Amino acid sequence: MRYRTIGDGTTSFEVSTLCLGTMWFGTRTDETTSFAILDRFVEAGGTFLDTANNYNAWGEGYGRDSEDVIGRWLAERGNRDELRLATKVGAAKKDPNLPLQHVPPMNYQGLGAETIAAEARESLRHLGVDHLDAYYGHVDDVGTPLAETVGAFGKLQAEGLVGVTGISNVALHRVVEAREEARRQGVAPYGLVQQQLTYPYPRPDVGRRNWASYELLDYARASTEAGSPLAVVAYSPLMQGALVREDKPLWAGFDHPTTHERLRVLREVAAETGATPNQVVLAWLTGADVPVVPIVGASSVAQLDELLGAADLDLDPALRARLDAV
Ligand SMILES: NC(=O)c1ccc[n+]([C@@H]2O[C@H](COP(=O)([O-])OP(=O)(O)OC[C@H]3O[C@@H](n4cnc5c(N)ncnc54)[C@H](OP(=O)(O)O)[C@@H]3O)[C@@H](O)[C@H]2O)c1
Repeated sequence: MRYRTIGDGTTSFEVSTLCLGTMWFGTRTDETTSFAILDRFVEAGGTFLDTANNYNAWGEGYGRDSEDVIGRWLAERGNRDELRLATKVGAAKKDPNLPLQHVPPMNYQGLGAETIAAEARESLRHLGVDHLDAYYGHVDDVGTPLAETVGAFGKLQAEGLVGVTGISNVALHRVVEAREEARRQGVAPYGLVQQQLTYPYPRPDVGRRNWASYELLDYARASTEAGSPLAVVAYSPLMQGALVREDKPLWAGFDHPTTHERLRVLREVAAETGATPNQVVLAWLTGADVPVVPIVGASSVAQLDELLGAADLDLDPALRARLDAV
């Protein structure tokens, strides 16, 4: 395993370059398997875990299953201090009787100050810890003034409950505005932005706010070089299995000629390196010019074992150039 430092200019810490996603823990992935995946990740040197306060209200669960499973595992293993925990607020149900959806009637709890303050404490309680290393807004909330959201995150930091803050599913201009607002208020700016990113890319779409665009990567690089670090964290880097599996269709917006060409070249490069396509994509992300932290999901130890094979994989520059050129 390799490690890198993430931070916000005030607080910083080391994380494994692969982050473990735990979205289905306690729902699609039963607790025994979840514990085995967590054990294997830690055994391989993994230190960075990603969860949320709503995993998985999209599926069969009640929302906090993932945090609860992690909490019970941490309590059993007694290893909280060896790990860096990230959770999220803002996309849990506002009204528990309505479905969780972000199209009207919108039912996200949002990023108001009261919600952030209360939900952080709930996450601490469910995880059974006294601080969160990283805390994200799960989905941007344009209905709440940015000043209120930023101030609420800053308050949690001042109280020692949260290390680095971040935002997910957000337009670049809102990340910039939020970080400038943080400076105005004298609080640490977001040090993390979590977006979807994999090797194929979606058709351009003005309404898509969840993709890690090249502009975002460039902004992260420029900010970091200017002394205000911003790390890009990528969710769904494996396209939930669609890079390699016939049973997993390409997502809407990704089924275009460049994707098919990218997948063809990906398979070629994988064959030449002796790695799997999933491993090549993870190495392509972690070793990129602007290095990205992929959050990998796995529903079995065998799947995770394959993904861990990417932790120490370096892509030859000529192969990377071939992947980039498509
Ligand atoms: N910020 C956000 O809005 C957001 C959104 C989504 C996810 N996330 C975070 O990102 C994490 C990862 O996201 P994700 O699960 O969508 O993406 P992913 O890592 O791209 O996909 C994980 C899925 O890919 C399949 N897979 C994994 N390893 C495999 C292997 N070696 N061979 C074949 N198939 C394999 C499995 O599908 P099967 O289980 O079906 O076999 C697994 O559940 C989540 O757990 C969560 O922490 C954040």
